[in-house]
Amino acid sequence: MKLVNISQQFGDKVLYEKLNLQINTGEHIGLIGQNGAGKSTLVKIITGEVLADEGFIEFPKNQSVGYLDQYVRVDEQLTIYEFLKQAFAKELAIEEEISELYEKYSQTFDDLLLERAGKLQTKLDQSEFYQMDALIQEMAVGLGLDVLGLDTLLKNLSGGEQSKVKLAQLTLQTSNFLILDEPTNHIDQKTKESLQEALGNYPGTVLVVSHEQEFYEPFVDRVIDIEKQEKD
Ligand SMILES: Nc1ncnc2c1ncn2[C@@H]1O[C@H](COP(=O)(O)OP(=O)(O)O)[C@@H](O)[C@H]1O
Ligand SMILES: [Mg+2]
Repeated sequence: MKLVNISQQFGDKVLYEKLNLQINTGEHIGLIGQNGAGKSTLVKIITGEVLADEGFIEFPKNQSVGYLDQYVRVDEQLTIYEFLKQAFAKELAIEEEISELYEKYSQTFDDLLLERAGKLQTKLDQSEFYQMDALIQEMAVGLGLDVLGLDTLLKNLSGGEQSKVKLAQLTLQTSNFLILDEPTNHIDQKTKESLQEALGNYPGTVLVVSHEQEFYEPFVDRVIDIEKQEKD
């Protein structure tokens, strides 16, 4: 992934002027800098949540980004299971489309519908969709969420427990580029260690914003200080 000549300012505050940054596929990067330096904004520019004043981003083909933002509010009426299941939203949508195609076929007998359904079915078979429940269970046990019960509503969880559930959902997503903004806020030491291990073993690209050197140091290949990138 390449950030090319990115400039961004809010009012009079200039965050970056013609920032250039390359993150290679599979690389694990730690992004650091003072509070207010523009780390979260840069993350949002990468995820598309903020459109930069100037510049552009080049993504390699087939890159799918998973993003964890501790400050994003979750729908608290969901159970832990329902929330984790959202990691498979893409696959669930495909399953839905397949049943619609069969439904239409039963009325029209149009073979093209069957052909399309077959292609989608192959895609599902190749994904982790049919292991979904087992994967959710495994993740929940790994993070110690199973003791709460997977049918517990998110509104009944503490901040730290909610953080764990968000981490679990992120790890279940079939993305190949993870972005985490200050993931160690509100999590306990044990969760921190399992996150460190998960990120260390993660084969895809990782961009983690963190001020905790002891957290990111073991699994990053490179540290980028946003304040040292600003000007030539
Ligand atoms: N939507 C916005 N509107 C105005 N100012 C913003 C906006 N988003 C961020 N800022 C300002 O930009 C600066 C950088 O913010 P941020 O990217 O959150 O920094 P960091 O994550 O490095 O602490 C801060 O001064 C912040 O107040
Ligand atoms: Mg921030």
